[in-house]
Amino acid sequence: MELKNNTILITGGATGIGFGLAEAFLREGSTVIVTGRREGKLLEARAKLPGLHVRVCDVADAAQREDLAKWAVERFPALNVLVNNAGIQRDIDLTKGVEDLLSGEDELKVDLEAPIYLSALLLPHFLRQERAAILNVTSGIAFVPSVKSPLYSATKAALHTFSIALRQRLKETDVRVFEVVPPMVLDTGLNAEGRAKSRAAAGGVPDEVRFAFLKPPSSATFAAHVLAKLAEDVPEIGYGTSEAWLKAPREELDRMFRQMNGG
Ligand SMILES: NC(=O)c1ccc[n+]([C@@H]2O[C@H](COP(=O)([O-])OP(=O)(O)OC[C@H]3O[C@@H](n4cnc5c(N)ncnc54)[C@H](OP(=O)(O)O)[C@@H]3O)[C@@H](O)[C@H]2O)c1
Repeated sequence: MELKNNTILITGGATGIGFGLAEAFLREGSTVIVTGRREGKLLEARAKLPGLHVRVCDVADAAQREDLAKWAVERFPALNVLVNNAGIQRDIDLTKGVEDLLSGEDELKVDLEAPIYLSALLLPHFLRQERAAILNVTSGIAFVPSVKSPLYSATKAALHTFSIALRQRLKETDVRVFEVVPPMVLDTGLNAEGRAKSRAAAGGVPDEVRFAFLKPPSSATFAAHVLAKLAEDVPEIGYGTSEAWLKAPREELDRMFRQMNGG
């Protein structure tokens, strides 16, 4: 993928990995628009990255998604890259029936429905561009599921499969499909509640210490790695553990699953 002179829409780009990607793409000389639900976070991001465009949007809401796509194409006719990055992760215990499922935001809507619909909303426009790309942010957990986050794991595995199918469908066009597969990244807001609980259960040992053996990259380091791989047209981009899991045979994935989920 050519890194310069793109017009890029990043969902959930005000914080964490999305912000890292926004910063890296801006540095390469692209126009970058980020979305999210919290206006305050978007304004903070714009203050840190002058030139960044921001737009409030809840991608779980069908009408807001449609408005976003329409606004982005009208306001930025050169729009040619969508980064489906917005995501949430929750600990859900299905042995409680539907209690946990219904007690918070819907991962199916945010992590799976939104990227699929945003891709479909923008594809006709992308097909009219000289070159375009869709980047879907999945997770190492797409390959080694987390028992604590069964729905999150399932949405990421589904987005992985969707990315393969869409890439093949578009192979004769000028729209490329990339999958970005982050490993654990700690300087983000993902699953703050679940991470706080597991930290407390581990006696308050900071995540940086507990997970030092995994060598988690910062959002900025991971984003720089993603851009380097995009420049080489690597379709599925992992890092560290997620890179290993992406390529691992089934026996190795089963071993990692047992190690990660205790048993
Ligand atoms: N951090 C990790 O260890 C890790 C590992 C693997 C994969 N990932 C993936 O990386 C992506 C980015 O996550 P992150 O770790 O950088 O966490 P993060 O800092 O919490 O970023 C997620 C972003 O998504 C936005 N968002 C959430 N729900 C939204 C909605 N309904 N509509 C619009 N925006 C929404 C959030 O902003 P608002 O709350 O303001 O809307 C936030 O800016 C996610 O897809 C995540 O699954 C992360």
